[in-house]
Amino acid sequence: MPYAKTGGLGDVAGALPKALCETNEADAALITPLYETTDRSLLDSLIIDNLEVEWHAGEDKPQARVFYSTATGAPAFLIDAPRYFARPGIYGYRDDYERYAFFCRAALALLKRLGTPPQIVHGNDWHSGFAIAELAARRSYDSFYQNTRTVFSIHNLAYQGQFDPAELPRLGFANEWQTFEIDGTANAMKAGLAASDVLSTVSSRYALEIQTPEHGYGLDWLLRLRSDRLVGITNGIDYDVWNPATDPHIAARYTSEDLTGKQVCKLDLLRSFNLPEEPDRPVIASISRLIPQKGYDLIREAAAALLESGAFFIVLGSGARENEEFLQRLREHAPHRVGIYIGFNESLAHKIEAGADMFLMPSLYEPCGLNQMYSMRYGTVPVVRATGGLDDTVQSFDRARGFGNGFKFEPYEAGAMIESLYEAVYCYHDEDAWRRIQTNGISADNSWQRAARRYTELYRAAMTMP
Ligand code: ADP
Ligand code: GLC
Repeated sequence: MPYAKTGGLGDVAGALPKALCETNEADAALITPLYETTDRSLLDSLIIDNLEVEWHAGEDKPQARVFYSTATGAPAFLIDAPRYFARPGIYGYRDDYERYAFFCRAALALLKRLGTPPQIVHGNDWHSGFAIAELAARRSYDSFYQNTRTVFSIHNLAYQGQFDPAELPRLGFANEWQTFEIDGTANAMKAGLAASDVLSTVSSRYALEIQTPEHGYGLDWLLRLRSDRLVGITNGIDYDVWNPATDPHIAARYTSEDLTGKQVCKLDLLRSFNLPEEPDRPVIASISRLIPQKGYDLIREAAAALLESGAFFIVLGSGARENEEFLQRLREHAPHRVGIYIGFNESLAHKIEAGADMFLMPSLYEPCGLNQMYSMRYGTVPVVRATGGLDDTVQSFDRARGFGNGFKFEPYEAGAMIESLYEAVYCYHDEDAWRRIQTNGISADNSWQRAARRYTELYRAAMTMP
């Protein structure tokens, strides 16, 4: 963000370099493809008109240019390679592995062209696995990269960038078969995991989960093997972008001391979904990619019970057609209680965080999850399944001690989810208890400052690796 976004990695890529620069301990810059959807007015200047990239796939060499921008608050280099990135979508193409292999080679060429060897190259998810593998190989013969160390972060182990290993020579990895290969397939995630000096993922619990067959997607053995180099660092949230006191997208601004503006936001939200203005009815919201990871099975199974709680249900999302259709049908069935927006809408996401009372995230797995943290910042109470980062960031409300910032359930079962939701709705009607949960959530420190400090420690550790 703000160059491109399909989910949480977009937010992380925007916020982490900025937070790193603010520590004054790291001189960080982002390197990302220039996508067709990127708003060109964010670009400051064209700094390299013709970037020479080592590339042998295809007859003619793809053009690559580099733009510079500081729109995130940290330097960013955007690689403009029309052959691979002038397409309507970000991911999801048959040749994605080739697109990101080219991007990685272009990124390394750019670093050389800039002239100062980086101490750390920090790759994120499988798309960057090619750069991590290339740097490990280069160390022995390329003096420029001799002292560069690598950090590789897993944001979602389920997506691994698999392709036919016969493609490796075309991509310039003829000698890296072993790094990429698993079960007869080339795998860019595996290459990153195998070749990186240090590994991280986006929560402590997920760091443990991915070492088990249930969450390891065939790579748990490698993560167990390298567990001494693997840490979990919970993502932060960008407190400048997600701040109800300054948010330009919402109907009224409010602070943790005075939440009256939140009520104005709730009515505005109900109006924008053509729902009746009934302020005493709680609003349960969901903003997500409508895919199995996000627990849509449970929502489908429990939708009737959810509405029986007396709440409104508002969803912003897009993804699997069957889930989109289910939600449309649910709205037709209960038009005065259900609001659905199918599509991607950043501004509406802010409005929902501000106007909702509860935020539902019943994920099957969740490496970190950002919306539960955005929710807390907006006084919206998360109801989550205890998995990955959701488990690490949400503590169940304990009425007797006044402790806890949300509600969570462990088994992946509709009944368990409904029980948590009913408990939340029950508490909602107790003003003091509710105010307490909201305050506990608002006062949680989920800032990037904390996470950035942990990354700088990790970079230092990587720099001492032989
Ligand atoms: P994931 O990256 O797995 O999708 P996260 O919780 O880390 O999950 O991040 C999701 C991010 O994408 C959040 O910033 C959320 O607000 C945003 N998001 C997801 N779906 C939509 C949508 N349909 N419209 C706007 N923002 C969305
Ligand atoms: C992935 C994960 C999500 C995480 C995000 C940013 O998309 O699914 O849980 O918050 O990456 O790290």
